[in-house]
Amino acid sequence: MRVVVTRRIPETGIEVLQRAGYEVSIWPGPLPPTREELLEFAKDADGLLTLLTERIDAKLLDALPSIKAVSNMAVGFDNIDVEACTARGVVVCITPDVLTETTADFTWALILAVARRVCEAAEAVHRGQWRTWEPLGFLGQDVAGATLGIVGFGRIGQAVARRASGFGMRVVYTDREQRPHEIEQQLRATFLPLDQLLAESDIVTLHVPLTPETRKLIGARELALMKPNAMLINTARGAVVDTDALVAALRDRRLWGAGLDVTDPEPLPADHPLLQCPNVIVTPHIASASEVTRARMAQLAAENLVAALRGERPPRSLNWDELHRKG
Ligand code: DGY
Repeated sequence: MRVVVTRRIPETGIEVLQRAGYEVSIWPGPLPPTREELLEFAKDADGLLTLLTERIDAKLLDALPSIKAVSNMAVGFDNIDVEACTARGVVVCITPDVLTETTADFTWALILAVARRVCEAAEAVHRGQWRTWEPLGFLGQDVAGATLGIVGFGRIGQAVARRASGFGMRVVYTDREQRPHEIEQQLRATFLPLDQLLAESDIVTLHVPLTPETRKLIGARELALMKPNAMLINTARGAVVDTDALVAALRDRRLWGAGLDVTDPEPLPADHPLLQCPNVIVTPHIASASEVTRARMAQLAAENLVAALRGERPPRSLNWDELHRKG
């Protein structure tokens, strides 16, 4: 069997694939393969270990009919047409859970950095602009005691909420449905409809997957509901926010700031208007990027792929049950 890994990943993942006896081809470039390059590189492969940068759709699957499984090294799978995979009998796998805490940590890094203008202040020091202690210099917003609004209360949203208790915050959340009372009680979180959450929160943080329903979930109307000194944090997917509307809100100072680990487009060009806005921190989609977590993601992605190619139930598959119900 031959498997293709679409970029260099932590060795733990490669070792799992090699131990399974596969021929492992790793895309050598620092950038993702183009569609044409991937088609050529993955010709005759049995399985693909992909990243969120690869678009896996019906066209690609039809051009690579030997593919039996696609294992994404990510919890998000908006880059994969799962229906098209299922229709062709291709198993799809993802890597949830292993990145939850690391992503929640990073969400907090952005919350604190935006609220207290950490990057802007540190840059000023690097530029030699620290002249004295200034009573009016780099004034930020308090996080302790503020209201934290969590949009999407799944694994990562809840991990973010757990961390809020140390800051004595009021935690409100919204999702497609209200969580069981025990979870709300344990996390001291209150369910609110989206509009009310936006109007009452000092910090709004996004943790929904990108789906047709959540695309541009936060647009001009939603941003206008937010408090003028509120901030928006996004570690989910860039397209959940209408970028143009966010630029307008930040430029007109209708928002305090934004912390964005994900953007639309991604990567964000260096001359993008978002980067000219006041109090915006943009990081290059690194919320899950700790050494341990990326190694775990690589390992789980590889274990998923090995199981799927052996015809066994993978640890985390999106369509295994559906494929096997169909017989
Ligand atoms: C994911 O897993 O979906 C993240 O965006 C990358 O870790």
